Amino acid sequence: MSNSKRLRIAVQKSGRLSDDSIALLKAIGIKLNIRDRLLIAHSTNQPIDLLRVRDDDIPGLVMDGVVDLGFIGENELEEKMLERKAAGKPFEYEVLRRLDYGGCRLSIAVPNEMDYQGIQSLEGKKVATTYPYLLERYFKEQGINAKAVMLQGSVEVAPRAGVADAICDLVSTGATLEANGLVEKDVIFRSKAVLIKRADGELSDEKETLVNRLMPRVDGVLLAKE
Ligand code: PRP
Ligand code: ZN
Ligand code: MG
Repeated sequence: MSNSKRLRIAVQKSGRLSDDSIALLKAIGIKLNIRDRLLIAHSTNQPIDLLRVRDDDIPGLVMDGVVDLGFIGENELEEKMLERKAAGKPFEYEVLRRLDYGGCRLSIAVPNEMDYQGIQSLEGKKVATTYPYLLERYFKEQGINAKAVMLQGSVEVAPRAGVADAICDLVSTGATLEANGLVEKDVIFRSKAVLIKRADGELSDEKETLVNRLMPRVDGVLLAKE
């Protein structure tokens, strides 16, 4: 539990959401002194601590109440929610705001030379992904019997390595797929960054007041960028 009197916010240490999340916190007036090697950054003008972690850890930190707020991509959030639900762990959270950055899609892609006639072409096949719960939910919805093969990274090399027939991975520009001789076929999930809050109980009055004071500023920043 987060017993600290300071509001704890988790952000991705490095990756597609880091810079925009930090920029948003600065834009709403939170002064931060970020040192690259440090996991925690203390705000110098607000009772706020920033935890800089791997994005994969952020949903769990919020759902376990270790931090109060977190910036996370909806893809990672939904995947971890399904994984925790299956494991009988707490999986609740509240979305405070959907943000305007971190846009990407989770798509099924197949090798250029594959004769792909739609999702039924994957019947009985293996698909490499870092998002097995989202992928298997999609297979179930589509009535397809295919197997999700979990890989933490380098998913795009799986077909060439003979580990899988196709992949399901995040796409933003499409450059990674193209460089690996893969073609995007079905979008299974569209994602943006969201700001989430723990839902396992009330924040202290002080923290609640602080969050309520910060949210209109977030809205202001989002509106100004429209
Ligand atoms: C994702 C994905 C691809 C890349 C796609 O990785 O796994 O590698 O982005 O982007 P593109 O369409 O613009 O080429 P990410 O950068 O999130 O890092 P990760 O693979 O280490 O999670
Ligand atoms: Zn990740
Ligand atoms: Mg990648």
